[in-house]
Amino acid sequence: MASTARGRAEMNGMGQGEPDPAADPAGRRRFLSGIITTIHAAIGGTLAVVLGRSILSPGFARREESWLPAGPLSDLVDNEPTAVTLRVAREDGYAQIVDRQVVFLVKSPGTSGEAQVVALSSECTHLGCRVSWDAEREELLCPCHGGVFDRTGTVKTGPPPAPLARLRARIDGEQVLVRL
Ligand code: FES
Repeated sequence: MASTARGRAEMNGMGQGEPDPAADPAGRRRFLSGIITTIHAAIGGTLAVVLGRSILSPGFARREESWLPAGPLSDLVDNEPTAVTLRVAREDGYAQIVDRQVVFLVKSPGTSGEAQVVALSSECTHLGCRVSWDAEREELLCPCHGGVFDRTGTVKTGPPPAPLARLRARIDGEQVLVRL
């Protein structure tokens, strides 16, 4: 029996110092246990990658920026912030979600005579309430804590620590585009 095991070890190319898993039950157990551990690790790693991506991707996926149509240039009055709603579609798992974002477009005559448009976020820089344009006062007002901005988004009074965020905007023919 021992000579058979030794013969098998020699046929497997093992030297006398190396244990033969086939001949040594403890070694065979260790060998099988190592294989099972490796398989478990591979399965666990694969599951972690698949589940991690499905859980994290909706929130952490980098949303692609794109130019969105914001309305015709002819709808804008010079130097008067006009609120427009932009719709941004995004994938959330198998569903498509449409986010709405209100921005103010402010048209002004450029130095060369061509119209220029600035896009301002409507989100107050204090705690995120939505500001609105008061045509009589000619100011953008925040309803939450009395923040006041001028038509360019600069803070006039109140707690907002910074001007309204500016978004990139451009004119394409008669259409105003905003980058989100
Ligand atoms: S959220 Fe606008 S002033 Fe506080």
